[in-house]
Amino acid sequence: MGTVIVPLQPPGSPALDRLARPLRDLRVSVTDRCNFRCPYCMPRELFGADHAFLPRNELLSYEELGRLVRVFAELGVTKIRLTGGEPLLRRDLEVLVKMVAETPGVEDVAVTTNGSLLAARAASLREAGLRRVTVSLDSLEPEVFAALGDTKVPLKQVLDGIAAAAEAGLGPVKLNAVLRRGVNDGGMLDLVDFARESGHILRFIEYMDVGSTNGWNLSEVVPAAEVLERIGAVHPVEPVPGSEGGVGVAERFRYLDGGGELGVISSVSKPFCGTCTRARLTAVGELFTCLFAASGTDLRAVLRGGASDDQLRTAIGGRWAGRDDRYSELRGAGTPGLPRAEMSYLGG
Ligand code: GTP
Ligand code: 5AD
Ligand code: SF4
Ligand code: SF4
Repeated sequence: MGTVIVPLQPPGSPALDRLARPLRDLRVSVTDRCNFRCPYCMPRELFGADHAFLPRNELLSYEELGRLVRVFAELGVTKIRLTGGEPLLRRDLEVLVKMVAETPGVEDVAVTTNGSLLAARAASLREAGLRRVTVSLDSLEPEVFAALGDTKVPLKQVLDGIAAAAEAGLGPVKLNAVLRRGVNDGGMLDLVDFARESGHILRFIEYMDVGSTNGWNLSEVVPAAEVLERIGAVHPVEPVPGSEGGVGVAERFRYLDGGGELGVISSVSKPFCGTCTRARLTAVGELFTCLFAASGTDLRAVLRGGASDDQLRTAIGGRWAGRDDRYSELRGAGTPGLPRAEMSYLGG
């Protein structure tokens, strides 16, 4: 890998990439393991009983993660999201949550989880300093749920986890539903009703061509405009005032009858690369500058090579300064064959 030499900005000012996007969010994958096998993410044919998951010593330790998070915060990161695989499978995640929450500059710590292990952990995670959780929930029909997650975990266990999170003060809980036409889009309104009744924020996500194992096909994507039209016909919505052009990945709407908030994530039909301030760290410590990148920068080697904080800052800031990724804006005829890392490895 060649070295990018860039003038670093003074400490305290956010690192900017080549498209002038600041580094603000860090998504940290803490494990590549998961107890589900969603075919769009970890198809069982490829992630079967003989799949070689990462051995423990390959993963960054909490001490290493804590140090990296501190350096990222010095470069402008204010928001940390812990992901996986399934992050709650990593032992004592509360220890990491506490370290991250106490890091100067970090304002927001969240977790994206499949919810199956949340019921017993919501209170301890909250106590450790977690602010909020996002739970993946693609269907409320037990058979469809089981097929979509290719799991024996009962739907009820996830619903209990969601309720426990809200109870523990990790709300408003966000629910992520990835829609695939003809697979689960028929259950859209059931999800809407559930979220409206329980006060959670439901977000419908356009199915993306992440990784290279899910056999993605554009015809399976249900565009956000269609989602809004189908829901709006039953429960009219309007944009949340002041949310337009916001920094998050979701476009926010609210029900006119006061039934709460709904989000759509139109990563395929309306890409948001122009405001993308997200870096990703894999469980083995590679820095990825895009969800669709093929490879990352090995920060673990820098860490374990005895680097000083200054050297770490230079490695991270330098990589960010050289960043020009905008995959979703370029998606088209040339992109399907491009190599890219798997979602379960990158954390989504
Ligand atoms: P908050 O806005 O903090 O609630 O989190 P989030 O919506 O960014 O995180 P979450 O893990 O819930 O991700 C929601 C969906 O957006 C998932 O399908 C992600 O894969 C997708 N997503 C998140 N960040 C990006 C991104 O930078 N690019 C693309 N294309 N998709 C993203
Ligand atoms: N397209 C869109 N979202 C996806 N997720 C997993 N795979 C895909 C995909 N191919 C979602 C998960 C989780 C979030 C991190 O990403 O459902 O909610
Ligand atoms: Fe596990 Fe989430 Fe991937 Fe499903 S989408 S296999 S729950 S990491
Ligand atoms: Fe950011 Fe890459 Fe997603 Fe675009 S495709 S929003 S650059 S992560």
